[in-house]
Amino acid sequence: MKRLGILTGGGDAPGLNAVIRAAVKTAINEYDCEVFGIKNGYDGFLEPDGIMPLGIGDVQGILSRGGTILGSANRGNPYARKIIRDGKEVSIDVSDEIVKGIEQQKLDALLVLGGDGTLRIAHELAQKGVSVIGVPKTIDNDISGTEITFGFDTALNIATEALDRLHTTAESHHRVMVIELMGREAGFIALHAGVSGGADVILIPEIPFKFESIIAKVRERVQKGRLFSLLSVSEGARPEGGLQTFSRKGDEIYVPRLGGVGQVVGDYIEKQGFESRVTVLGHIQRGGTPTAFDRWLATRYGAAAVRLAAGNGFDRMVALRCGVITDIPLDEATATLKRVKLEDDAVITARNIGISFGDR
Ligand code: F6P
Repeated sequence: MKRLGILTGGGDAPGLNAVIRAAVKTAINEYDCEVFGIKNGYDGFLEPDGIMPLGIGDVQGILSRGGTILGSANRGNPYARKIIRDGKEVSIDVSDEIVKGIEQQKLDALLVLGGDGTLRIAHELAQKGVSVIGVPKTIDNDISGTEITFGFDTALNIATEALDRLHTTAESHHRVMVIELMGREAGFIALHAGVSGGADVILIPEIPFKFESIIAKVRERVQKGRLFSLLSVSEGARPEGGLQTFSRKGDEIYVPRLGGVGQVVGDYIEKQGFESRVTVLGHIQRGGTPTAFDRWLATRYGAAAVRLAAGNGFDRMVALRCGVITDIPLDEATATLKRVKLEDDAVITARNIGISFGDR
């Protein structure tokens, strides 16, 4: 392995820079390899100055920095790249140009740091002969085959701190505080932060809720003299027999954007006579410095991905299983989204300690 490329795709997550740093250092120190950063996801292969050399000096001081020094693109799918044609936005397949770009750069391996969408594209590029290695990134923790993605721990800590802060003001004002958290179709952030931050009700996409059950929990607390309640709500949660809430509709170009279920729940609670306030934590969960755990995990993933590339372990993704870094086929990692399992001890524990999922 003489020339290694690294790209970061999809929504950013704390720890991306820590992976880049570890990969660059490992590639240079151990394999005397030249490393290149691809800017803005796969788009970098199509842009004039889209590729930059990465030396040890370029990754100094980035371990604790959020975001990605390479830039990322949420809409950078080479199989459906958005362009303006005749004044109209259309999507076209530029995957062959990406493959050509990789060949022109004479890259022996390409590390792809991404979530399910970016990793699925990596797997498809592998079918076209590209030597890819995946690194599981996302605050949502929804990649299959790995216990944890980097970025999740930081988001969880930020969400838990937000719940702690809402707790004190909820108690002072005898209010019901609703916090809407990210996660798309997986409720990991809302579940883990809800348990860690002492929520009374947790709503996740995996467990459809009933409005009456939420109110029953709030009422039960009031009857016991607990005049406030905390609700941890995942953006993908939906009522039984009802639909998810979107802040923007999808069309042939854009995927729909989840958002607003917290307000729907808050409005219902107010109508039942309980004062309520809603906080949408949004991208605060994704920005800023990674936790020590995410730096540790990201560094292990970055170094392991380079070792895997050096051993020609292509079309695979580094993963954490039973605390040990291993690797699995990208196909397996991207076949289905990982979601909260109802039989998980996390859900059972939450129920054991009296947390309601709004379903009973
Ligand atoms: O996948 C990460 C994530 O932050 C989701 O939790 C959220 O639904 C989505 O990305 C937001 O995307 P965007 O940054 O495009 O608004």
